[in-house]
Amino acid sequence: MNGAMKNGLPWLGGLTAGAFLRDYWQKKPLLIRNAFSGVREPLSPDELAGLACEGGVESRLICRKGGTGRKSWSVDYGPFEEDLFSRLPEKRWTLLVQEVNRHVPEVATLLDHFSFVPNWRVDDVMISYATDGGGVGPHIDSYDVFLLQGLGKRRWRYHQKKTTRVTFIDNLPLRILEHFEPEADEVLGPGDMLYLPPGFAHDGVAVGECTTYSIGFRAPNRAELTAAFVRSFATADAMSDLYEDPDLQAGSEPGELTAAARERVREMIRRIDLGDDAIDAAFARFASILKPGHTLEAPRRMLTVAQVKERLVRGDALVRSEEGRFVFFPSSKLTINFFYGGHQEALKGSAANLARVVSRHRILDLAALGKSTALTKDGLLVLTRWINNGALSFTTLGPLPCYGETR
Ligand code: SIN
Ligand code: CO
Repeated sequence: MNGAMKNGLPWLGGLTAGAFLRDYWQKKPLLIRNAFSGVREPLSPDELAGLACEGGVESRLICRKGGTGRKSWSVDYGPFEEDLFSRLPEKRWTLLVQEVNRHVPEVATLLDHFSFVPNWRVDDVMISYATDGGGVGPHIDSYDVFLLQGLGKRRWRYHQKKTTRVTFIDNLPLRILEHFEPEADEVLGPGDMLYLPPGFAHDGVAVGECTTYSIGFRAPNRAELTAAFVRSFATADAMSDLYEDPDLQAGSEPGELTAAARERVREMIRRIDLGDDAIDAAFARFASILKPGHTLEAPRRMLTVAQVKERLVRGDALVRSEEGRFVFFPSSKLTINFFYGGHQEALKGSAANLARVVSRHRILDLAALGKSTALTKDGLLVLTRWINNGALSFTTLGPLPCYGETR
């Protein structure tokens, strides 16, 4: 049991992670006043707008125009032209930037406070900047979310019970609820945080200018898991396993799928291994990949084992890539199957210990890695491999630089 399970966490209002998970997680909302005091914003609104102008960054600009009908809301998608922001009205718009943790490492470290939720459930940190009256309208999310107030104030109105009447207003570019009768109404200030389980209607409206950090957790649906499982069988072996019919008989019905053809295809499909080991490996690979298409990026310059040792001993820290997730499961008493960004390794001894530590923390200096483990021959070898395939990289960041100060 790690410390978070035993000790009350200031950012959970003094609850232990265990009590939070038992009483609130996926069950009911929790408002935590002053969850993070002394939050030093890692990104100013100007820098957030700058990010939304970059290619490869997902962002939306939502304007509440007033009235009803199709034109009452507008949604535009980034990347945006820089001069757009100077042309916007003074009020009632919001800019939302997804996956800021992938682009700004300081933002990623915020996720370390939520490590009581498994890595594979983490989706992203979205940051929104809103002018007075700005918001996205009453809606529901299919994700668990912690809404942390950064700058300024936001009024949150939300349901205390799972929303049952879910219909959306027709002809809008956003999925806005037709019926919304809030059961709670709270204004959040800097450092306050609201946890909402999936399916609880909510509406956040900026009171003056504000920023909100949404720490979101995904849950895959069965269709996604099935698709990932099927993809995991598209191996080179399976691709060279061709349907064969050297005994094909001349038939009178060219359109008929004959009994022989159907039996042969059934037999090919039955060759799919539905055993626990195969399902576990497919699940772990799926869990370690951020989204289809995301891969770890190897560094421009490879490092040697000696260089890695020298930098660690000098006090340099490593940061984990946000382009993949780090997960494992034990394969025996001494060995683990470690998966990260689609890579798979069977590890034991110091390598397995390091994989566990790397799965636990984003920022890793020699003290966090454990000197006696990291500086062994095996330890240095795996660390060098993970650096050279882009899973880890040296950083100037210290542990939790922006959110360390909690009440
Ligand atoms: C926002 O930051 O404005 C939207 C967050 C949400 O309601 O999911
Ligand atoms: Co929401």
